[in-house]
Amino acid sequence: MIVVSTVSELQTILNTFRNDKKIGFVPTMGALHEGHLSLVKQSVSENDVTVVSIFVNPTQFNDKNDLQSYPRTLNQDCKLLEPLGVTLVFAPTENEVYPEPDKRVFSYPPIDSVMEGARRPGHFNGVCQIVSKLFEWVLPDNAYFGEKDFQQIAVIRAMIKDQGFRLNLCSCPIVREVSGLAMSSRNSLLSEHEFNVAAYIYKVLNESTNAFDAQSVVDVKYSVINKLNAIPELNVEYYEIVDGYTLQSVSDWNESEYIVGCITVFCGDRPVRLIDNITYKSPLLS
Ligand code: PAJ
Repeated sequence: MIVVSTVSELQTILNTFRNDKKIGFVPTMGALHEGHLSLVKQSVSENDVTVVSIFVNPTQFNDKNDLQSYPRTLNQDCKLLEPLGVTLVFAPTENEVYPEPDKRVFSYPPIDSVMEGARRPGHFNGVCQIVSKLFEWVLPDNAYFGEKDFQQIAVIRAMIKDQGFRLNLCSCPIVREVSGLAMSSRNSLLSEHEFNVAAYIYKVLNESTNAFDAQSVVDVKYSVINKLNAIPELNVEYYEIVDGYTLQSVSDWNESEYIVGCITVFCGDRPVRLIDNITYKSPLLS
């Protein structure tokens, strides 16, 4: 496994593979856990060469404290990647990625204007800035993203189409702790007690899928919100039950063949912002 920090080193090595090797790419911000590693394993199994990028992208953070407190563990990350068969790790500096400010604007309404887009102004623009740069440099055949960031996948899909990238976006299932809590780099910021309490997020989401269509969408939505808000350490920022394609709220279970509940919860004193989602209806499930 080779670790490089410049675009020119990355491209020199990748150019030796381009003709006859399939390139898989997993973009990350590091502090790797089994969720990230599942994407990497899938890429290694489906491609000849796997590139993993590790870069805490400042343009997607709209909160300075969040950016500062984001865990950075490059050496440990490389130790986790090496045995998986990763070919190349790209860990650039901020100056390498943004030698000058990126003024490009990416806008994909209404997909990027709801939920995370509404609460974190500029977030998806920053995600599109970094992911489009990385795609241009790596030129992968396949790129891997996790369904934990459900809206991010929809926005990147729109960006790929808009920018004309010729690659497959591969979406990978959410990897969870034994308790059901979705794995996240931010989980390391939780105390042991908060980590245990945060397991209720998935528990309540999962329970809400039982005979969900016996109740109205709005009743399921507020039942989830009220159950979680009843726990002192948890504070729901939003819970939206949306069309899985357009990300717009639905008011009736018959409105779409694909319906997903997307949640963001603040947990604990700091607080730590946790996101998760659950599928109520999927064309893949039926
Ligand atoms: P990061 O949060 O590091 O996540 C990198 C990838 O891992 C994303 O595609 C994310 O959805 C996936 N992932 C994280 N936790 C997961 C879990 N529990 N199960 C499955 N997949 C999981 O998402 C980003 O970084 C950034 O926005 C990035 C795309 C790298 C652009 O900076």
